Amino acid sequence: MAKRLDINDLNIYYGKFHAVKNVSLQVPPRYVTAFIGPSGCGKSTVLRTLNRMHEETPGARVEGSVELDGENIYGRGVSPVSVRTTIGMVFQRPNPFPTMSIRDNVVAGLRLQGVRNKSQLDEVCERSLRGANLWEEVKDRLRKPGGSLSGGQQQRLCIARAIAVSPDVLLMDEPCSALDPISTLAIEDLITELKKDYTIVIVTHNMQQAARVSDQTAFFNLSGVGQPGELIEINDTETIFSNPDKKATEDYISGRFG
Ligand SMILES: Nc1ncnc2c1ncn2[C@@H]1O[C@H](COP(=O)(O)OP(=O)(O)OP(=O)(O)O)[C@@H](O)[C@H]1O
Ligand SMILES: [Mg+2]
Repeated sequence: MAKRLDINDLNIYYGKFHAVKNVSLQVPPRYVTAFIGPSGCGKSTVLRTLNRMHEETPGARVEGSVELDGENIYGRGVSPVSVRTTIGMVFQRPNPFPTMSIRDNVVAGLRLQGVRNKSQLDEVCERSLRGANLWEEVKDRLRKPGGSLSGGQQQRLCIARAIAVSPDVLLMDEPCSALDPISTLAIEDLITELKKDYTIVIVTHNMQQAARVSDQTAFFNLSGVGQPGELIEINDTETIFSNPDKKATEDYISGRFG
């Protein structure tokens, strides 16, 4: 079930370093939201606070709130592990468990939740691989290791693994940066398909990709070296790319940055 995210006044730190300042934004359900901006402006950092991955870094700290359909994921007694099940993440480099079979990769999260029923696992495996648009390519070799797939297939396997646990939100950090153009288009098509069921946030350095797949775009920037990243503006993708409010956004999207 796709849910909305409300991000309120996020300030994010690595030890004493203030990495991201005062970010507030709304992520509507069944929407693709793109995060763009120069390297180091905090896109990945913000993304990782959205499923409580940020606090895995020693000394890392978050102020503010992130509400999933009104429930603060940083609320008292909320378990980070359960947050990461409802808000799944796909990383820049495909990271399947390389020696584990394709099938076991897909159902790894369900196994962790204690599901042992073979027919249920098979059913979820097929549904997730179909959802990730990988089923036809792997249905005859589900016992082969995840590491035997191509890079693009491995990334779709990771997406299958993420959707197998029925998350509400999918976070993707530059999911195509290690892929060739054909695999990239396959993932973009898949994102467009997935947004019918999920709320999606994607970090991308590829302006065309943001323009192709996203409904709204958030531009982040930093005012200088050592300064915290900030959200400069967020709007419909079409508006950001055709008629942005801020000069910094226009400079960045037209390649006049820096
Ligand atoms: N584990 C960490 N420890 C300390 N500082 C970090 C850590 N990870 C990131 N940072 C710092 O936080 C800031 C934001 O980094 P982040 O990785 O979020 O940027 P980004 O926008 O995703 O950049 P890129 O486009 O290069 O991926 C940077 O100054 C970075 O050096
Ligand atoms: Mg990053």
